[in-house]
Amino acid sequence: MKEHWTIGFLGFGNMARALAQGFVRSGFPGERMVACAKRYGRLCENAAPLGVRPVQTAAEVAAQADLVIVAVKPYLVEEVVSPLRGALRDKAVVSVASGVFFDRYEEILAPGTQHISTIPNTPVAVCEGAVVCEQKHSLGAEAFEAFTSLFGKVGLLEFVETSKAGAASTISGCGPAWAAMFLEALGDAAVKYGVPRENAYRLAAQMICGTGRLYLESGRHPGAMKDAVCSPGGTTIRGVAALEQAGFRGAVIAAVDAIEGK
Ligand SMILES: NC(=O)c1ccc[n+]([C@@H]2O[C@H](COP(=O)([O-])OP(=O)(O)OC[C@H]3O[C@@H](n4cnc5c(N)ncnc54)[C@H](OP(=O)(O)O)[C@@H]3O)[C@@H](O)[C@H]2O)c1
Repeated sequence: MKEHWTIGFLGFGNMARALAQGFVRSGFPGERMVACAKRYGRLCENAAPLGVRPVQTAAEVAAQADLVIVAVKPYLVEEVVSPLRGALRDKAVVSVASGVFFDRYEEILAPGTQHISTIPNTPVAVCEGAVVCEQKHSLGAEAFEAFTSLFGKVGLLEFVETSKAGAASTISGCGPAWAAMFLEALGDAAVKYGVPRENAYRLAAQMICGTGRLYLESGRHPGAMKDAVCSPGGTTIRGVAALEQAGFRGAVIAAVDAIEGK
């Protein structure tokens, strides 16, 4: 990333703070980040621990930042961004607002403004995020390099077609809640058999991280990863069968159906 870029946040709620935490953790200096929010007092409290500079208005963010992250609720994007059309014309705009994609920003921003729409998840705070990125974007080479360098340090960047971005972000954005339920369920099972809950949660959490890492590094089919742990007549395959009898796979697909509506 170009040296001395300043990052600006329009909105400094849960997602913006998770990103800022990840950026700081990955070595980006807090003082090169500036943020605004609706309530200035609360913003100051949230910004201070990260060294992020709070400002009173969105216009100040647009004026001071090179890369501006739109992190207000989707229904507020137009209201917050429209007045900044002129100021954002020569900036790189990165949206994290769910469901607000390229074509909508083309209507809101000035013609020629460089922008990309993304949907990150909260594990960006610990640099283990998954960031759905819309394939269609208008970042030039330098801004694209700045974006991938910055966001790539806090998560995996997955570029998808606009029509697939909603379902893709359901997996990465809602998935942490489901993974946490799996974690908790494994903890309950372990406690049932006398393993202290805190030991069980740590083991289960690392198992989830490690399985994910193994997939990402090996590219091995998930079915083959499962098979590799199931010896014939062994214990793991009994657990696999029990999960399937309880409708595990169907339950996971139903969870996505509940959101995607199919
Ligand atoms: N949270 C997630 O897991 C997640 C995941 C993917 C995408 N996103 C996207 O991230 C965006 C923000 O979500 P969030 O969960 O971070 O929401 P949030 O916690 O409610 O934060 C929204 C922020 O916007 C600020 N704000 C409200 N009106 C404003 C205005 N007129 N000008 C400037 N700032 C204003 C709020 O200020 P106050 O703090 O003063 O109210 C707050 O800092 C959404 O578009 C959402 O779709 C979130």
